Amino acid sequence: MMHPEHQRRAYLKAMGIDVWLPRDEPEPSAAVAGDATATASLDWDELAARVAGCTRCELSQSRTQTVFGVGKRTADWMIIGEAPGGEEDRRGEPFVGRAGQMLDEMLRAIGLSRNAVFIANILKCRPPNNRDPKPSEAAECRGYLERQIELVQPKIILAVGKIAAQNLLGCDDTVGRMRSRTHELHGIPLVVTYHPAYLLRSPSHKRDSWRDLCIAKRLAAGIDT
Ligand code: URA
Repeated sequence: MMHPEHQRRAYLKAMGIDVWLPRDEPEPSAAVAGDATATASLDWDELAARVAGCTRCELSQSRTQTVFGVGKRTADWMIIGEAPGGEEDRRGEPFVGRAGQMLDEMLRAIGLSRNAVFIANILKCRPPNNRDPKPSEAAECRGYLERQIELVQPKIILAVGKIAAQNLLGCDDTVGRMRSRTHELHGIPLVVTYHPAYLLRSPSHKRDSWRDLCIAKRLAAGIDT
């Protein structure tokens, strides 16, 4: 979708009306001008560059760097979390803190290594003080994730945690309710499980999460659950 300010200017231009900007009104940024329509046609390198220079929301001002995503670009599994935390913001890679170690452990439990999957987040930038992503931030960032999903073409999407699942599925259910069924996103099976950071706090739910991963593994293999 075109940015509203660009749309307004395009209309005015089409009507032959010159648009004059006051000195203190900046041009909409190049990233915004690039727009979601264009994002849908980017290749991996172009997409990574677009994300690295993104200024679509205010998180661009507080981040150390963007956290694009990591892993195998043709993976069967795509793991989607919430947003970078402090360690991820410093290192530019998702799930590298304590929650990341837990995620690695979860993957290992079903015979997968971190390199065999693609890992991304709803947001590419860290929200200050690890607050929840704002809906407007998730909306501005969505095109990037959508393009990543299109490029990876995973056989299974694993949404870890409430924020990831709610954003991907467009609902406000609890993880407890969402994890009890198989969902779909663009025709790709999607399984919801607990966030690894939650499992660190509530290890008694590891067993449930392992069951979710086993379901996801069957779905990835094309076996109906
Ligand atoms: N939590 C997330 O949801 N994503 C990360 O990358 C790190 C922690």
